[in-house]
Amino acid sequence: MGERSDQPKKEVKEFEPPEDFAANATVNDPDIYRRAEEDPEGFWEENAKELKWYREWDRVLKWEPPHSEWFIGGKINACYNCLDTNLEKRADKTALIWEAENGEIRKYTYKELLDEVCRFANVLKDSGIKKGDIVTIYLPMIPEVIIAMLACARIGAPHSVVFAAFSGDSLATRIGNANSRVLVTCDGYSRRGKVVEQKNKVDDGIKSCGIIEKVIVVRHHGNDISMKEGRDVWWHEVMKDSDISCEPEIMDSEDMLFLMYTSGTTGKPKGIVHATGGYMVATYTTTKFVFDLNEDDIYWCTADCGWITGHSYIVYGPLANGATLVTYEGAPDYPDKDRYWDIIERHKVTILYTAPTAIRTFMKWGSSWPEMHDISTLRLIGSVGEPINPGAWLWYHENIGLGKCPVVDTWWQTETGMIMISPLPGVTTTKPGSATMPMPGIKAAVLDEKGNETAPGEDGYLAILNPWPSMVRTVFGNEERFIETYWSKWDYKTYFAGDGAKRDDDGYFWIIGRVDDVIKVSGHRIGSAEFESIMVSHPSVAEAGVVGKEDELKGEVIYCYVTLRSGTEESDDLKRELRSYAEKNIGPFARPKLIIFSDDLPKTRSGKIMRRVLKSIANNKDPGDLTTLQDPDVVEVLKERTRTLESA
Ligand code: WTA
Repeated sequence: MGERSDQPKKEVKEFEPPEDFAANATVNDPDIYRRAEEDPEGFWEENAKELKWYREWDRVLKWEPPHSEWFIGGKINACYNCLDTNLEKRADKTALIWEAENGEIRKYTYKELLDEVCRFANVLKDSGIKKGDIVTIYLPMIPEVIIAMLACARIGAPHSVVFAAFSGDSLATRIGNANSRVLVTCDGYSRRGKVVEQKNKVDDGIKSCGIIEKVIVVRHHGNDISMKEGRDVWWHEVMKDSDISCEPEIMDSEDMLFLMYTSGTTGKPKGIVHATGGYMVATYTTTKFVFDLNEDDIYWCTADCGWITGHSYIVYGPLANGATLVTYEGAPDYPDKDRYWDIIERHKVTILYTAPTAIRTFMKWGSSWPEMHDISTLRLIGSVGEPINPGAWLWYHENIGLGKCPVVDTWWQTETGMIMISPLPGVTTTKPGSATMPMPGIKAAVLDEKGNETAPGEDGYLAILNPWPSMVRTVFGNEERFIETYWSKWDYKTYFAGDGAKRDDDGYFWIIGRVDDVIKVSGHRIGSAEFESIMVSHPSVAEAGVVGKEDELKGEVIYCYVTLRSGTEESDDLKRELRSYAEKNIGPFARPKLIIFSDDLPKTRSGKIMRRVLKSIANNKDPGDLTTLQDPDVVEVLKERTRTLESA
């Protein structure tokens, strides 16, 4: 991603933790790093003891690379640790403040949230869901998504939450892979005042997948939908008579808590499996340390529960810490560009966790929007999902953090489950654009192709050298892919993150971005191969190569190189159609920025499309060695076409 043009004139290189912040911080003693390094298992164990276990573990870690088991023999329930454990001290504390796009506000105390969760857990049980059955949740950011997730956790049914903006087809693929019989969804929801017909997407998507036996539908938007007799039931109707008490299932520490599908290098999305005990310890601990949660904080993570950030840092980590959450259903510019700052002012938010694309967008809109509101309650601000460029970091610090809030740039992934590289706000000196240092207990490095550490300033691959409690356990139903993707790069015990990175002279980590065929558009993870297989399913498309192009605002945008079937004419109409096709079959966030028609694509002699070459063409970079190409001339043609279209 590199440096952007909004670099500050005045070089500000480092920020010490503000004194008053550090004085009161949960962690203000750098000795935590030394202690965790000397005895990582002891470190995690000490934190694990702050959760409630039905039975303590016999052993903290079994590490048979690349397989780990954590808190072996321990028995725990994740939902119990998010809700019941808070009842004694916080039964009437607000757990959730939810705001709809239209301004409606709903609040739940810990007690109220627990009641709803128990009722829904009983609904699931009545639907035949038992421990181990996977429930698919396809909901926008409404309270029911959190209730449904926790209800699953309560009865030991792993959830698979599918981002609401995905298409019905993408939903069906994930349901099929998880073999999920029950789906939780809603009628529709509002995005910038327009209705998204969620239930229609469901009906289209699952028509031919034949696995779903029951669809539980939240009445949210009130749009007209059809309910299929014998399959579809209304949430409010089944909840009405549902019992308010539900004993949590006693889960083994290694039992699956949830599946989260994510894009990778090959065609099909992979189901990342997270285990219960280790994940809870990891998210609980990192939330406490990185966000420095205090009893009276109002914490707002702007992520969606359809992605890992929503799982770890809206639901499990913060609730296990007894936090008050703010969540918002809608768009940041609805009805106007100050919606976020308005929310912060009205709910007196103290901690904000958002994404670089959002920050760069706010920057583009200008500081007059946040200036309209009193956002001085903020005391800590965070960033996640993509590299944040120094200019955006500084703007965020100055205009949202008002120069006084520590900024935590947190690097992690669906697969890591927890924040891996981040400042500790009361300890770490930050440098704009750097995620700084690995968390206590984590050993990270930047390695070259052979597995040797790179010299300071030199690019390499980001790697994790030791196990951590919330590490991905496997890829659901595909152990081979798990090993191949994450462990085969070096020695089958060093984790390959798929990101490029470098370290500076002080050892600080600077994440550059993905080095594999994963594209990050506004922080949304999209796989090139998955995208291409959808494009070639269009009757006019013969071949497609899909790559990310660096973008000032979104981090990356999608460039889609297409050869058409013989007899098909190139036209602007067809381009429009292909764009909508991608949008309809994946989701609106996957709309290609450019469609580039070409008679040929850069291929190896064996006929494999070379994405590496396409990526360099898209990014106007040197494509490197072209001797293995079938027809090297195609590169010049594509370059010219790309530049012409860009300037059009
Ligand atoms: C990128 C999101 C730079 C990275 C939590 C990673 C980041 C991918 C940062 C995982 C950051 C996430 N700085 N890059 N602070 N945080 N990334 O699975 O490329 O949706 O591999 O998890 O996001 O995306 P995922």
